[in-house]
Amino acid sequence: MKEKLIQQAIAVLENNHQEGGFTIPAQGLYPFQWKWDSGFIAIGYAHFDMKKAMQELHVLLDAQWENGFIPHIVFHNDSDSYFPGPDFHQSELHPKSSKKYRSTGLVQPPVLGFVLERLYDISKEDSEVLKFVDDHIDQIYENHVYFYENRDINKEGLVYIYHNWESGTDNSPMWDDIWPTMDSPHYEFERKDTTHVDPSQRPTKREYDHYLYIIEIAKKYGYDDAMIAKHSPFLVLDPLFNAMLLRSNEALIRLYGLLERGDEKIAYLKEKLALGIQGMNNKLYDEPSGAYLHFDLRKNTLLPYISSSSFAPLHAGVPSEERAQKLGNTLTEKFGSVDKYLCASFDPTHEKFNPKKYWRGPVWINMNWIVYQGLKRYGFDALATRVRNESIELVANHGFYEYFDCRKDHQEENIAYGGNNFSWTASLLIDFLNED
Ligand code: SER
Repeated sequence: MKEKLIQQAIAVLENNHQEGGFTIPAQGLYPFQWKWDSGFIAIGYAHFDMKKAMQELHVLLDAQWENGFIPHIVFHNDSDSYFPGPDFHQSELHPKSSKKYRSTGLVQPPVLGFVLERLYDISKEDSEVLKFVDDHIDQIYENHVYFYENRDINKEGLVYIYHNWESGTDNSPMWDDIWPTMDSPHYEFERKDTTHVDPSQRPTKREYDHYLYIIEIAKKYGYDDAMIAKHSPFLVLDPLFNAMLLRSNEALIRLYGLLERGDEKIAYLKEKLALGIQGMNNKLYDEPSGAYLHFDLRKNTLLPYISSSSFAPLHAGVPSEERAQKLGNTLTEKFGSVDKYLCASFDPTHEKFNPKKYWRGPVWINMNWIVYQGLKRYGFDALATRVRNESIELVANHGFYEYFDCRKDHQEENIAYGGNNFSWTASLLIDFLNED
C-alpha cells in the first residue's frame, strides 16, 4: 500500500508542476505559486527529485522584493480561474516590489528556513544541496530581517499579520470578532473559487468583502508596513505564524553553523529567537485554555479561540515541558476524542466549529505535519504517531483532497472537501510515509 500511495502522490505533484519550475496547489482553484504551499511541496519533492525541490524554492525566492518581502502568491502566468488576481492586488504600488513578477502584497507563514534545513537532512548531507543552501540562505535571512524590522512593532520578537490570508487559516472563526469592527463596503465581484468547490465549503461573500477591504486599505498606503500597522483594522499576532518564524530562525542558525559563516547573522537570529520565545510565552499563552491563542493588537486582547494553530509552538520548542504537557492535554481532550480524527483546524467542542467549511473545522494535512513535528519534539510519541497514522488513513481512504472531515461517526459518503489532487497533501503524505 505504501508504494502505491507514494506513486499516486508523485503523480499529483507532477501533474501540478508547471513549465516555469513551480507547482500550483491545485488545478483550477489555485493556478499560481503560493508561498507556504511551495515550501511544503519542496519537502515532498526532496524524497524523489531533489532538483525539483530546489527549483521550487529558487523560483519562489526569485520573486522576493528588494526589502526582503516574499509574497504569498506569485502570479507567474495569466489565469481567469482565480479571484482576486494581479490587477486587484497591484503589488507594483510598493516601490520595492519585484520588477520581474507581479504578486500579492501579502505574506504567508515563514516556513522556508526549516524547509531548507529539511531538504538538506533528506539529502543526507549532500554537498550539492549544501551548495544550494549556501546560495539561498541569505535570501531567507533577509526575509526574517524584513519581518523583525517592519512588523515587530512592540519590539517583543513577535511579528504582526494584517490580513487573514497572511495567517494561512483564511476563514477561521477567530476572525469573526474582527469583521464587525470594520464596516466593509459591499463590493460587486465575481468569485471563482465557488465555481470549483461547493460554496458550503468556502468563505461567504460577506467574508470576501472584508478580505478585499483590508487590501484596499493597504493599497491606499502603497503597501507601506508602517502605515498598515497604523491603519489596518486587522492587526494580529498569530501563534502559527510566529512559531513558523521561530522554527525557521532555529533552522537558519544551524545551517549557517554548517556553512561556517554568518556569525553576525547567527547572533541576530539567536537574539530574535530568545525574544520571540519569551514573547510568545508572555503574550500568547492562555493559562485557562491550556493553549497559545491569537492576540488582537487593535483591541489589545487575546482572541478566545483554540485552533490547530494553538499547537504550532511545539514545533518551535516554545513551551516549557510543563506547558507542553498542558498543550498535549488540551489537544487530547478537545480535539482527540475517539470519534474524531486528529487534528481539527478549529476546536470541535466550540459552537462555531463547522466540520466542512475550510478553516472552520476540517483536518488539514499541513497542520497535522506541523503538530506531528511538535509532538515528536517533546517526546509525545503515541500522540504523534496517531496524528501521522490518521493523516495517512484519511488520504488513503478518501483521496488527495485539500481538507477532511474530522468526524469518524457521521453517515455521509463524502468526507473529503475542497480541491482534489492537492499538492501539499500529496507532498506531506510522501514525507509521512518516509518516516518508517
Ligand atoms: N487561500 C486563499 C484562497 O482561497 C488565498 O491564499 O484564495
